Amino acid sequence: MGSGKVGSTIGFLAASHNIDDVTLINDHKNKAVGEELDISNAIPEDSQFSVVGTDDISKIKDSKVVVIAANNGKIKTGRMDLLKGNLEMTRDFAKNIQKYAQDARILVITNPVDIITYFVQKESKLPRENVMGLGSNLDSSRLRYLLAKELDTKQSEIHDSLVLGEHGDTMVPILSRAKYGQKLISESLDSIQKEKITNDLKRYWAKIVAMKDVSSVFGISKIAFDMIDAVLNGDELSTPASVLLEGEYGISDVCLGVPLVIGKNETKIQEIELEKSEYDLLQNSAKFLRKQIMNC
Ligand code: 2OP
Repeated sequence: MGSGKVGSTIGFLAASHNIDDVTLINDHKNKAVGEELDISNAIPEDSQFSVVGTDDISKIKDSKVVVIAANNGKIKTGRMDLLKGNLEMTRDFAKNIQKYAQDARILVITNPVDIITYFVQKESKLPRENVMGLGSNLDSSRLRYLLAKELDTKQSEIHDSLVLGEHGDTMVPILSRAKYGQKLISESLDSIQKEKITNDLKRYWAKIVAMKDVSSVFGISKIAFDMIDAVLNGDELSTPASVLLEGEYGISDVCLGVPLVIGKNETKIQEIELEKSEYDLLQNSAKFLRKQIMNC
């Protein structure tokens, strides 16, 4: 749902990697059909799959994965700017998911992603693990990039880069786990460096927007593609994403980023050990999101 920059890039990745049929849905039919015409030329000759562009939302019928990437507004001060327009639109999507695609896994990209994921799950009535919001996985990739820059090394040297919580200002970088090679990074960074990395992480989106006028396209699309691939092809994927919690980490009735293992038939929530300060920040993130949900 949505065939703008992100939706169409995910469609391109799925079609060119030959993983399944792709349906691009857009209110503006020409935009969807235009992407169909373009992306179809990236399908390998031996692929049996095809791409279809349409404005007919019922075409999600019996989908294995539904990606919500539509967006109704422009981000200026933060993701919350988008809440009003996007919530209305995605509530309507949720009803259609309930009607046509009850067995699907739903990937929510539309911002503010944790709040949208919450309402999509509630209103589609799908099992909670089947509705996942993408944000913490993007933030974790960004943290890996920032740590590599700070330590003047390659991203491939950085391991266990993990960010949990809101895909927003209350996100929680789990610096206690990150490693440079075999070594824990927290031992090599002082508190000023840690604070700078955390601030840069929170403002990463703003830097991209200032320079290329839209926020993440390739990063978020590749992450969505990997999740789709895990569902369709069954290779388990460990990644953090936003999901409705029911007591995990002492948090309930809120969606936020936690470690997940995504497989063909199910998604499992992982409860990992956190330092006390990280655990407290996660509670703070949940409290913030709960308050926003109550105001909707
Ligand atoms: C991003 O982080 C705005 O969520 C979008 O790039």
